[in-house]
This record gives sequence, structure tokens and C-alpha cells, in this order.
Amino acid sequence: MSDLNMTDEELKDWVSKVSTEFYEIVYNDLWFMKIFRNIKQEVITSQQTDFMVQALGGPKMFCGRSPKDAHPHIWIDEDMLDYREQLLVEAFEKVGAPQVLRDKWLKIDEAFKHVLINKGGPETCFKRGNADEIIYEPKPYYVRIKKAS
Ligand code: HEM
Repeated sequence: MSDLNMTDEELKDWVSKVSTEFYEIVYNDLWFMKIFRNIKQEVITSQQTDFMVQALGGPKMFCGRSPKDAHPHIWIDEDMLDYREQLLVEAFEKVGAPQVLRDKWLKIDEAFKHVLINKGGPETCFKRGNADEIIYEPKPYYVRIKKAS
């Protein structure tokens, strides 16, 4: 039982529903999809589900890299984090996720933001291994970010 007042099975179901919808939105977004060009949608959906279930206090299923070590090759700034959050909120809405899950999820994301942001330009990125590509895709001027009201 997680501290969200749901069983582990319910938690896994909700997180899986949200992650599936979130990456469905990401992989159909003409800008954001570019950042995810080297990873398959089903792979990241399952990694993210395992990560969040564990972070939310459910069963320990995640055996991947920590957020800090997963993104050194991707240039990430505040605009990108805001945009990602906007897409995540769309996913919450679409699947009707419980409010308590939304709140905790956003809090966890918030806690990791400072380790993801690049303080300089793309030269501050580095590859995790030879197969990596440095991904530098700043927000194009025509992409709008809806500010929370
Ligand atoms: C704008 C912000 C973000 C972008 C653009 C982004 C993008 C990505 C991409 C492209 C990957 C796949 C990397 C690869 O293996 O090739 C990835 C992996 C991952 N991301 Fe993010 N991410 C962002 C924010 C976050 C946040 C806020 C979290 C969690 C708090 C997170 C957690 C993870 C995890 C757990 C993985 C998989 C780690 C692994 O097993 O390798 N990401 N992300």
C-alpha cells in the first residue's frame, strides 16, 4: 500500500495510464518528439512508469539510471521543463488521474528539476557513452507555453 491511499496494483495502473498518455502526447508533438528521437516510445513509457511507481512509494521496480544520470546528453532549460509539465497536466486531465496522484507526481518532478537544467549552452552536455548523440533542441519561437492560471 502506497501513501496515496491506493493499493500497489491501483498505483501501477494509474501511473501506467498517465505515462502511456503522456508519451502519446510527447511523440505526437512536433517539437518535443525531436528530443525523444533516439528512444522508443514503449521503452521510455515503461522506464518512466517503473520510476514513478517507486518514487511514489509503490513497489521497487525501477532499475535504470537516476534522472541526473539519464539526461547529461540532453540540453534542458526552464522552458522545456515548463512545457513538459504542461503536457503532463494534459495527460492527467485526459485519463482523469486522482488529484492526490497529480500533486505528488508534480512535487517529485519539481524536486529533480535543478539537476536537469543546463546552466550554459549545449557545450555543457556530455555523452553517457559512444552511442549517444548530443540533443540540443531549444523551444522554437512559435511554440506557446500556457501559463497555469
Ligand atoms: C524537459 C525535461 C525532460 C526531458 C526533455 C527528458 C527527456 C528524456 C529522454 C529523451 C530520455 C531517454 C534518454 C535515453 O536513454 O536515451 C529520458 C529518460 C529518463 N527520464 Fe527524462 N526528461 C525530462 C525530465 C525528466 C524528469 C523531470 C524526470 C523525473 C523526475 C525524468 C526521468 C527520467 C527517467 C527515470 C529516465 C530513464 C532513465 C534510464 O533508465 O535510463 N525526466 N528523459
